[in-house]
Amino acid sequence: MQWVQSEDGSYTAYSAEYDEHYHSTKDGALNESFKKHVEPAFALHPTKNHLKIIDICFGLGLNTLATLYYRDTYFPKTTLELYSPELNGELVTSLINFPYPEIFAPYLNVITDLAISGRYEDERTHITVEITDARRAMRELEGKWDVCYQDAFSPSANPLLWTQEYFADVARLMADEGVVTTYSIALATRLALYKNGFTLYLNAGEGYRQATVASRRELESFEKVDMEHKIACNPSAEPLRDENLAL
Ligand SMILES: C[S@@+](CC[C@H](N)C(=O)[O-])C[C@H]1O[C@@H](n2cnc3c(N)ncnc32)[C@H](O)[C@@H]1O
Repeated sequence: MQWVQSEDGSYTAYSAEYDEHYHSTKDGALNESFKKHVEPAFALHPTKNHLKIIDICFGLGLNTLATLYYRDTYFPKTTLELYSPELNGELVTSLINFPYPEIFAPYLNVITDLAISGRYEDERTHITVEITDARRAMRELEGKWDVCYQDAFSPSANPLLWTQEYFADVARLMADEGVVTTYSIALATRLALYKNGFTLYLNAGEGYRQATVASRRELESFEKVDMEHKIACNPSAEPLRDENLAL
């Protein structure tokens, strides 16, 4: 595992297996976490006093820790339930030594508990990191969830976590007001979400590349992606399908 410093000074890692970084080095690992996942999650549920978040996949735990930081800073009364599948158990155990940004100093006990037992709990927080395949996890998980951070390696590197069938399982888990946040703006990704009943929105702003928010409900604060127009302009575009991948 190679640690790599990203543009905002925070560290990410490079995976030789997937030939990809865990975060965008250009947008900055921490910046990407906040802008593409955590800020939209809270902005779209400003009055919820209990937020249930699926974090696909745990990786270095930046999305989970950024969620704790953001809650504690701006929504201290909100209680959190986070569930995160991760295939690489050795990675999670090794995170005790990861060079996290200074703002995560208050959460080093959280990372230690997650690395040792896969669980962390206090009065306002319940986190489970399960060492398992996210496909299986999404089939077996129960309940209704408010947010899914879709932060797997890219569709080309890890296509099984971007198919129409995969998103059907995610869709089943989402509450009526639920949202999926992702860095991917690929038409194939958006089509896979669209075919599962999501409306697609553009997440754009200063200091990060465009991203996507997929929602069960109409959103006013994000620009809607006109999917029918995109489909008309790209008639041969298709979502990724399980049946076309080696399973
Ligand atoms: C881009 S990284 C996630 C970064 C993470 N969200 C963070 O904030 O640090 C992708 C992660 O997906 C994990 N992974 C790959 N395939 C998986 C699968 N089928 N099920 C669960 N985890 C998987 C990899 O081990 C890697 O840790």
